[in-house]
Amino acid sequence: MTIVVAIDGPAAAGKGTLARRVAADLDLAYLDTGLLYRATGFAVLAEGGDPSDAVMATKAAENLKPADLENEKLRYDEAAQAASKVAVIQPVRDELLDFQRRFAAQPPAGKKGAVLDGRDIGTVVCPDADVKLFVTASTEVRAQRRLKELQERGLESIYAQVLQDMKDRDARDSQRAAAPLKAADDAVILDTSDLDIEEVIGKAKSIISNKT
Ligand code: DC
Repeated sequence: MTIVVAIDGPAAAGKGTLARRVAADLDLAYLDTGLLYRATGFAVLAEGGDPSDAVMATKAAENLKPADLENEKLRYDEAAQAASKVAVIQPVRDELLDFQRRFAAQPPAGKKGAVLDGRDIGTVVCPDADVKLFVTASTEVRAQRRLKELQERGLESIYAQVLQDMKDRDARDSQRAAAPLKAADDAVILDTSDLDIEEVIGKAKSIISNKT
């Protein structure tokens, strides 16, 4: 029996840091599913295409290789915006679904379970996950966090622009027809607006130990 922990939520809510830490502390495999969408969007951009082009995006998803997930440029906002455009295309989601489900069912390196983070893990990818967390925070707090992260990477950014990009991406992720961002009915909601990362990790670990 493998343990599956699904962590969903909007951009910059803290789910990536949380998922990585939970996986390390509990010795579980970790998959950042956003990377699959980022790599797909980035591949279309690299070919000079439009990430909203369903034919190009689907082909990029089909041709995705593990090495494509290693690209540093996937962390940039350009890749994030492209990701949220390819993510509305149902054939792209179908193509990436198998990989995610296989990862959860047969975690690599003989691990006894997996933590997946994304937007639709608890609702679509792993509806039977043992634990579902929905990590969120106010849009302003998330924009501030993203601004700090960009500045720490030496990228010049303006709060108003970061906030607007965040709102655009939230709208696209929540309003799309295909697997929109939303909490599963049985997810535990963790609002991180007023919590630091150690508090979030502590709460998540106690929820997980109560459920597994
Ligand atoms: O988590 P992230 O910021 O790396 O995700 C980038 C985009 O990918 C996000 O705006 C929506 C999409 N995505 C998705 O639709 N489903 C997922 N499970 C993960 C990401």
